[in-house]
Amino acid sequence: MGYDVAMYRPAPGLPGRHWYQRLFSKKARRAASRDFMFDTLPKGGRVIEVGVFDGDFSERILAMNEPRELHLVDPWFPKDDGTLYDGPTQDFKDGKAASEALQAQYLQVTTRFAREIASGRVVLHRTLSHDAAPLFPDAHFDWMYIDASHFYDDVKRDIDAFFPKLKPGGYIAGDDYDRRGIWDHGVTRAVDEFRGSGAAETIRLRNHQFLLRKPL
Ligand SMILES: C[S@@+](CC[C@H](N)C(=O)[O-])C[C@H]1O[C@@H](n2cnc3c(N)ncnc32)[C@H](O)[C@@H]1O
Repeated sequence: MGYDVAMYRPAPGLPGRHWYQRLFSKKARRAASRDFMFDTLPKGGRVIEVGVFDGDFSERILAMNEPRELHLVDPWFPKDDGTLYDGPTQDFKDGKAASEALQAQYLQVTTRFAREIASGRVVLHRTLSHDAAPLFPDAHFDWMYIDASHFYDDVKRDIDAFFPKLKPGGYIAGDDYDRRGIWDHGVTRAVDEFRGSGAAETIRLRNHQFLLRKPL
């Protein structure tokens, strides 16, 4: 599958670099390294991305997978002590600065997907993953992308909370498998434990992505 250069143009109304700078940026290359999954993931389905950040991958899902519904879950707010839920990966001066930065990111995401939000195709859930999971019935999603906090306990909790929400035959995927990071292989450990349980079939482990399938 090739690049769709149009999707790297800044969203209307947002300040952005020229599209070719974004196309060849590290982030864009990283996003493209996940494209192999789109050969497997069913198009036109109901999808959820847990952990959204600035919505770069959400935009790619919309462009390449064309879901009929895309739910995006992220708190876009820091913990009470001002640190982030997924670890101290960014240096904010204090809790207020962190809060303001995440509020700005949330607004940027709402602008980025304004048209899809208005049509109901994209639904934002500004909350923690474990609070979002109970909002959905079981066997609801065609596929899901788990990419929130990468600490072992959090990944395990996210998989346990969201897997029942997946239809039989649906896919559960996620990022940063086989990557140590500050979370010390949290994703790898939780995903391998889950794979070991036999609850899902392993489809691909590639480019730090895991792609598993729920049996029919
Ligand atoms: C690695 S980023 C997501 C990147 C995004 N999926 C992408 O590929 O462009 C992780 C995001 O997870 C969010 N996050 C951290 N803990 C979370 C939690 N418990 N529930 C939901 N989101 C969480 C963070 O706010 C952050 O935006």
